[in-house]
Order: sequence, then C-alpha cells, then structure tokens
Amino acid sequence: MKIKNICCIGAGYVGGPTMAVVAQKCPHINVTIVDINAARIAAWNDADLNKLPIFEPGLDEVVKEARGRNLFFSTDIDKAIDEADMIFISVNTPTKTYGKGKGMAADLKYIELCARQIAQVAKSDKIVVEKSTLPVRTASAIKNILENTGNGVNFQILSNPEFLAEGTAVQDLLNPDRVLIGGDTTEAGKKAIQALVDIYAHWVPKERILTTNVWSSELSKLTANAFLAQRVSSINAMSELCEKSGADVNEVSKAIGMDSRIGSKFLKASVGFGGSCFQKDILNLVYIAKTYGLTKVANYWEQVIIMNDHQKQRFSDNIVSTLFNTVSGKKITFLGWAFKKDTNDTRESAAIKVADNLLNEQAKLSVYDPKVVAERIYADLDYLNTRSEEENRSLLTVAQDPYEASKDSHAIAVLTEWDEFKTYDWQKIYDGMHKPAFVFDGRGILDMAHLKAIGFECYTIGKG
Ligand SMILES: NC(=O)c1ccc[n+]([C@@H]2O[C@H](COP(=O)([O-])OP(=O)(O)OC[C@H]3O[C@@H](n4cnc5c(N)ncnc54)[C@H](O)[C@@H]3O)[C@@H](O)[C@H]2O)c1
Repeated sequence: MKIKNICCIGAGYVGGPTMAVVAQKCPHINVTIVDINAARIAAWNDADLNKLPIFEPGLDEVVKEARGRNLFFSTDIDKAIDEADMIFISVNTPTKTYGKGKGMAADLKYIELCARQIAQVAKSDKIVVEKSTLPVRTASAIKNILENTGNGVNFQILSNPEFLAEGTAVQDLLNPDRVLIGGDTTEAGKKAIQALVDIYAHWVPKERILTTNVWSSELSKLTANAFLAQRVSSINAMSELCEKSGADVNEVSKAIGMDSRIGSKFLKASVGFGGSCFQKDILNLVYIAKTYGLTKVANYWEQVIIMNDHQKQRFSDNIVSTLFNTVSGKKITFLGWAFKKDTNDTRESAAIKVADNLLNEQAKLSVYDPKVVAERIYADLDYLNTRSEEENRSLLTVAQDPYEASKDSHAIAVLTEWDEFKTYDWQKIYDGMHKPAFVFDGRGILDMAHLKAIGFECYTIGKG
C-alpha cells in the first residue's frame, strides 16, 4: 500500500518536528498537521521562521524547505482526516488531574476524542498510528471506538512511539537509533506495518526499523523513559552521597561510564530531571503495574520519582541554609527556566519547583532564560496554585539579560545548562551583587575555580 496523504493530529513538540522531517524526506507525500489550537497553527504558518511555536535547532530549515510544498499546517481537522490514508495521533497524554488514577494514570481523553473524530469523518480505509506515548493496550480501546462508531470502513492501528529528545529533535529524527513499529500479526496488520516501514525507509537504514507486536511497542516507550529517568535518579542519589563523603560525582560518573556495560550517557548529576515525559510516563507505568496488582514493581519504579523530587527539594533547602537560614526579602537570580538547554519547553522543569520553594521562603526571584518568555514562566507558577497570580508577579521578575537579572542579588542559581551561561563576564556579575555573592550550580556547568578566584562562594551538585 502506497501512502500519498498523511494527516497528523497534534502540532506540538512531537507532531511538528516529526512530520516536518517526514515531509522533508518524502516530497511525494502530502503531510498535513492539524491542531485545535489556532494560535499554534498560525505560528507554524508564520512567514518569520523565528516565530515557529517550538524552538529546536535546525527545525526552521526543515520547515522552510517543506512548508507549502508538501507540508501544511491547518485547523481543518475533518478535511485532513478525510483526505489521509494514514493518520498519526500525536496529541498530549498528560497525567490525570481528576477521578480514578488522579496524579498517576495517563489522561486519554484527547486520544479518545481523536479516535471518535476519525471514526465519524472517515469514509475510506485508514491506518491510524499512535505517535503519542500511551499505556500498554490502548490500541485495543482505539480499535474498539473506531469499529463501533465508524462508518463501516476498515482501520489498522499501529503503535509508533517517538524517541526524540527535545533540544536535539531534528538530529534524532534524521538519524534515529531505531524506529519502532508495532502492529497486528494478521495479513492486514502486516501490510499496514509495511506501509509505515516504507515511509521511514526513505532515510532510515532498514536494520534500524524494528517491528513488533502492538503491546511490546507501547510498553517499550514507557520502559525506555523509565530506564533513562532511573539513570538520572541513580546518579543524583550518588551526588548527595558524594557531597557528604568528599567524592566528586563527575569523577564517579566518568569512572563508571567508561565501563561498557554501563555506558556514559544520562549520568550527569543535576537539580533533577524535568520535561513533559519522564515523570508522567513513570507515574503511568506505576499505575499500570498497580492495576495488575504488581505492588513491588510499582514501588520499585516510584522510587525514581521520589528521588527526583528529593533532589529538587534539597537544592532549594541548601540555598536557604547556605544563605544563613533565611532568604526572606533576598534577591535570588535564576539562570535558566527551560527543563534543559536548546528548548523553550518548561514542562515539569526543576526550576518551577525550586522557585516555588524559595518563594514560600519569601525570596524575591529574578529569572533569565534565553528562550523562555515571561508569560510562560508566570503560567508555570500560577498553575501550581500556591499563591495568587498577583503575588507571583510581584515576587518574581523576568529579566532580558543576565547582568540585569543578577544586579543586586545575593545568589545565583543555575537551573538549565544553556551553553551561553559559561561565557558570561562573571567578574561583572560579581561586581553587581551583594556580598558574600553565592553561586549554586544545579547543572555542574560553570568553571568554579574561575568563579572562586573572582570571590564567589560556590556550590556544585555532587561535590563535597
Ligand atoms: N515532548 C517530547 O519530547 C515527547 C517525546 C516523545 C513522545 N512524546 C509524547 O508525544 C505526545 C505529544 O507530546 P507533545 O510534547 O507534542 O505535546 P504538546 O502538548 O506539545 O502537543 C499536543 C498538541 O495536540 C493538540 N491537541 C490535543 N487534542 C487535540 C484534538 N482532539 N485535536 C487536535 N489537536 C489536539 C494540542 O492542542 C497540542 O498542540 C505525548 O503523548 C507525549 O508523551 C513527547
């Protein structure tokens, strides 16, 4: 089966970059990305490529090449579904905030809405691809909805989870470690799998395209995120022990990472992992294990989250205790708000929790992030509902440059590992601060010997 028209529902951090790369690599396929968020679609269509709603290195070039040729962004969801042979569902699957499974299970309401809309609109056979990260066995729920509410046409459901990392999304998509496709083992299922394999095969070597049954594919995505997050929590647990024992977590990390059985990636101690996926996917895994009655499995994975929360808490506690047990009325500068460098995404960023803790201690915060806008920062804090919107705006200011942000502050906290933080004129920053001037490096990126020589009092995660 040759695919001529693709529709992707959801123009977010996954749908946008993923489909832009498909369109770039397959000029013979029309790719239409649709979303209910009209402002987001308008931004994707903006003539000024600096205004794309998602910042990813290299994404503007891909969009520039394909947009208007065979890549389209639209709010006309019905039309795109109707015309498509293959429909990717790439909508958000956040943690449930209500009802059964609140705070743990994935909220599948957006997925179900998509399935119902596809069923209602489709007048010809379609392949429906789960691109969103979903609990194992969701494909059967989607199939049920499609078959029971549809117009009698045939649907094949594939699972094709996305493994891109924000900040390197375009590179990850162009050169993936593997592409995973799960589908039915029936003849029709195999044909659908092959149709998707043929698309990726335009730029991904065949040996890196893995096909499995649907359940393995769905569960592999949750497993991958759980393993990655577990590595971060493991090294973070060691960082606290390093601080107490006089070891240096970077040295420990290097020493163990050179062991080929362990490997060096995801072994950087930090103020804690963030991002929209790790926490949500592990909580979902924990919930699934619990629903199968696997309490020990659930408890095992839950520790990864508990350790991550602890790491954020102890970072802010350390700031308070180092600043003579009070930060009330003191200005503290945050360098970075995004959950990692090279993205404007702030979902579950460690900065949010650290800020909330310090604001509870009546600190005054000044934030500078190269890519995150003020509205986003305030929205993140307002979402916590810890204090009123007015209080958040009076206690936290957003600066346009690091020198303005750090002027008259008592301490600087590095929350994101942006490269540019290493290149600042730290003498100038020091001169503008109250003394003693403190730096808390939550990412282990600054040259502490240089900063100490200037006169800063320094703390780096994981150094005794
Ligand atoms: N962000 C990542 O790095 C990443 C990586 C791999 C997998 N994932 C998974 O991919 C999925 C999407 O994540 P994201 O980060 O792109 O989310 P996102 O919030 O950035 O984008 C989702 C988009 O879907 C749209 N949407 C929701 N319901 C819709 C509907 N019924 N019709 C049309 N549009 C609708 C929303 O308006 C939003 O723009 C999630 O399941 C996530 O777990 C994310």
